[in-house]
Amino acid sequence: MESKIIIKGGKPLIGEVTVSGGKNSAVAIIPAALMSDDVCYIENIPLIEDVFVLKKMMEHLGADVTIEGNTMRVDPKGVSNWIVPDDLAREMRASYYLMGTLLAKFGKAQVVFPGGCNIGSRPMDQHLKGLGSLGAKIDLIGGVYVCSAEKLKGCEIYMDVSSVGATINLMLAAAKAEGVTTIVNAAREPHIVDLANFLSAMGATVKGAGTPTIRVKGAQKLKGCRYSILPDQIETGTWMAAAAATRGDIKINGCIPYHMESASVKLAEMGIEVIEGEDYIRVKALNRPKAVHIQTLPYPGFPTDLQQPFTVILSTAKGTSMVIETIFESRFRHVDELRRMGANIQISGDVAVIMGVEKLSGAEVVASDLRAGAALIVAGVMAEGTTVISNTKYIDRGYENIVDKLKSVGADVSRT
Ligand code: EPU
Repeated sequence: MESKIIIKGGKPLIGEVTVSGGKNSAVAIIPAALMSDDVCYIENIPLIEDVFVLKKMMEHLGADVTIEGNTMRVDPKGVSNWIVPDDLAREMRASYYLMGTLLAKFGKAQVVFPGGCNIGSRPMDQHLKGLGSLGAKIDLIGGVYVCSAEKLKGCEIYMDVSSVGATINLMLAAAKAEGVTTIVNAAREPHIVDLANFLSAMGATVKGAGTPTIRVKGAQKLKGCRYSILPDQIETGTWMAAAAATRGDIKINGCIPYHMESASVKLAEMGIEVIEGEDYIRVKALNRPKAVHIQTLPYPGFPTDLQQPFTVILSTAKGTSMVIETIFESRFRHVDELRRMGANIQISGDVAVIMGVEKLSGAEVVASDLRAGAALIVAGVMAEGTTVISNTKYIDRGYENIVDKLKSVGADVSRT
């Protein structure tokens, strides 16, 4: 039976918490290790469901993968299979990164149309266009992408939208392609830079990651390496939201404050104190936040993944806030659950108008996706009374040890 998270909320969260390695970095870097000719050690791996599913996929392909503490050892020497099992691929979005890596390694890949959070239509046209430009032939047969390439050859690829997934898939394929691949209008998220650094550590040459133009010079052979994943930007933002929502005071250790600018600025606009150190952020919220407007955008804009937790802060802010979601069309599914807890939010298309109420009260709620689950946790610790969250499998996909971390900052939380 699936577990539920039970929270008795209504008191400030106070204390320190340490952020785990980035989920969206890990799910790109782990498949990248398949392209190496030798063993890779990936440190600071978050121990989350998405990583465990990816481990199973890699093992199915023939890799020897072990995890000790937070370090993953990937030995790809036995990899001989390029067909990704459908049931595992359907469990997570990032399974499509195996298209890029397996094409680069074997010139062949078979991956079912990927699963992942149900937050909108999530097309793959930019992945297919880019891989096609590199020389791959891709047919969708019975819901499975059957990919082949005699040779991948570097070229210039213009992306019509700034897509994290397509940028990563193309960087992966380009890492072993002949010559230079230039990705124009590339995504700039921190995990893009993280992957670029990992590919460079394996021997590819990657320039410009973090800017809209990335150049990847492929290498015939990629070597083993030891690499440590950057801290999770979205987990950091979730703790910032938890501190702000509960009028708490949390020092978030091991994060990169520079990655959090858009969130820090919004908290400051709400009248919340944000203190930044070299590798920590302390969010101190003594008063009721002021209403603000937020629009989600690709990095360095405000992340769509933090829209849901930040909506919770605004649900009890003083005044009326507006949140515009420009990235995914179905990312307001947490709002119905927040209404059950007493929030006053109207949705019209991609706009949420949030009339701040004095407080939320606990209720039985259901997580519809990963960050909706994170939002409900923030709502649960803020609300008076007991909140019971079901569908917690989504939360486990992306948050390591969430219950213990919540307890460490004083939350009254348990798991059935
Ligand atoms: N898009 C296209 N065509 C494509 C690809 C994307 O039109 O070929 C559109 C999407 O529909 C969307 C926009 O481009 O409107 C951005 O999508 P993107 O490709 O950047 O998203 P993604 O790669 O599917 C990753 C994260 C998401 C995060 C988004 C945006 C991973 C595994 N997932 O998704 O993370 O919300 O970028 O930053 O990296 C999460 O962690 O909860 C999560 C959903």
